[in-house]
Order: sequence, then structure tokens, then C-alpha cells
Amino acid sequence: MQARVRDIRGQFDADLAAVGDATALAVVRVRYLGRREGLLTLLLRDLRDLSPQERATTGRAVNDLKGHVERGLEAAAGRIDAAAATDPGLSPLELSLPGRVRRPGVPHPLTQVRETIEEIFLEMGFALESGPEVESDRYNFEALNIPAHHPARDSQDTFYVDGGLLLRTHTSPVQIRTMESRRPPIKMVAIGKVFRRDPFDATHSPVFHQVEGLVVAHGITFAHLKGTLEHFCRRVFGRTLSLRLRPSYFPFVEPGAEYDISCIFCGGGGGCGRCKGSGWIEIGGAGMVHPAVFEQVGYDPAAVTGFAFGLGIERIAMLKHGIDDIRLFYENDHRFLSQFPA
Ligand code: DAH
Repeated sequence: MQARVRDIRGQFDADLAAVGDATALAVVRVRYLGRREGLLTLLLRDLRDLSPQERATTGRAVNDLKGHVERGLEAAAGRIDAAAATDPGLSPLELSLPGRVRRPGVPHPLTQVRETIEEIFLEMGFALESGPEVESDRYNFEALNIPAHHPARDSQDTFYVDGGLLLRTHTSPVQIRTMESRRPPIKMVAIGKVFRRDPFDATHSPVFHQVEGLVVAHGITFAHLKGTLEHFCRRVFGRTLSLRLRPSYFPFVEPGAEYDISCIFCGGGGGCGRCKGSGWIEIGGAGMVHPAVFEQVGYDPAAVTGFAFGLGIERIAMLKHGIDDIRLFYENDHRFLSQFPA
């Protein structure tokens, strides 16, 4: 048995030395390690017939050989690869290979909707502002008239970061930052990521995108708010829809409202599943800037008024394209993304 081990080792070294390419290497690999007829495989199998004592010594020799064979094959494979990479015979221009199609990319559907929204507000004379995604409690809550322990915080649980910071739950903090760094008149929109401790399901995502709008000047009224939202929604979804404001509560506006558009699927007649038979589809929240918010930024509520509004980009994109699962936006599946040529 020991002699057989030595023979096989000698044969293997000779075979390996003769190997010139990957095909020959594969043949050698099978000859020694082939699962059924490999010389080493058979050797290992025959160990079973030895006495326990012999098995111990011969076993060690066989294992040793196995390591030798495996290392030898690996080294040869490395040599062959390296040689192939520098072989002038293998021209980089291989005319018989099928070509690789390079498909030009397009902006992500959320980026497309974001750009459309930016364009509409730029047309209306709004400036684009931005703020950090990691915010302080003051900007995300306190200055927006949401003190600690206020129940409005419950619906906006988020991810907390060391040092009293948190991932912003909405884009409304950009209102405060803008008012602090500029004087009225202010007319701005801010678009960006927001974060909530929400489940990841068909209608929720812990990360999504919002648009925030703010107009502050002398003599701004609720009528300006309604006109702005109506114009915006018609530019996004179609000229003929109507806008409806429903009283609602947000701590940083008074009065506050949620705004709906007439259902773009059934034309507002109701009797459709998308609007749950109501004829209306909710778009976002809005209202007149609360005097307490003006006081937070050092504005005189007797001298200026303003309106603010918010909306979700995913929601707009889902309505526009009839998408029923928000997760599709983040999965990077080409079969989905390729349906939105720019
Ligand atoms: N920040 C609110 C939210 O994320 C949305 C919102 C409501 C924004 C009313 C506003 C507003 O500017 O006036 O739920």
C-alpha cells in the first residue's frame, strides 16, 4: 500500500508537469480526484480493508498525498489563468463572441417624479431648500410645536442616534431651518428622505421621501394655499381634477387640513376600489403656519402669515403609475425599473 501511495505521487507529479491548459488540467483532476474512479479516491476506499494499525500509518500517507494533489492542482490552475491573461494569442477583440448589449440607464421612477415636482414648483417661483436627514429634537419636533410627550409624537416614532439626534420623521424641520436663516418673504420647497419606525409592507416603508412647502410673507391667506395645491395637483395628475381640503390636525399649523384630489381612476364618481368608493384620494397635509412656530424662529405673528404643506413622493409615484406595492421602488429589480423610460 505504501508503495502504491509513492507510485501515485510520482505519476501525479509527472502528469501535472505535462499540463498545458485548463482542459488538460481538468483531465488530471478527474484522474486523481474523480468521485468514482479517481486514483486517490480508490486508494482511500481501499484503506477500509486494512487492519486498524496499518490504516493509521497508511491513512496518514494517503492524506498527505491528497493535500499534495490538491495544492498541486490549485497552483497549476493559478498558473494557467495568469498565462491566459497575458497570452497575446487571446486577442481582446474576439469577433466570434456575441456582443454585450449596453442598455442606457434611466433615472429611477422616484427620481423622475421628484424632478417633475421640482420643476412645477420652480415654475411657480419657489426656491429649493434642503436640510439634514439626521436632525435634532428641536428641529424635528420642538420648534414645530410638538413638545416632548405630545401625543403627535406617537405616530412619528423614529430611529434615535447618539447625542440627542434622530432620523427626521418628516421634511417639516426644513421650514424651521429656512425661517431661521432667511427673512420673509419666503417661498420654498424641500424634498428629501424621511424615516419612521414603520413596518416594511405594501404601503409602508421605514424610509421614504417627502416634499415640504412653505410660503411666508405679509398677507398670505388660506386661498393662496388652496390655489397653490390645486395648481400643483393638476400639473401632476391632470387639468380637470378638483381639490378638497378637510379639517385635520397638525401641531405646526392652524387651521390644519388634509387635502384630497378627485379620484384619478374613476373620475371622482365613486364606486372604484382605489378611492374606496369615496371619489377622493388623499394626497397630503397642509395649513396656515401656527403663531407658536413663528415665535420659535423669532418672527412676529402679527406682521407675517404663511402656509405650509407636505406630501409623499412614493404616494404620488404610486398613484401616477398605478403601483400597488411601495417595496417595488427599493428592490432594484430591472423588470420593474425598465417600465419607466424617462
Ligand atoms: N409633516 C407632516 C407629516 O409628515 C405633513 C405635513 C402636514 C406637512 C401639514 C405640512 C403641513 O407642512 O402643513 O405627516
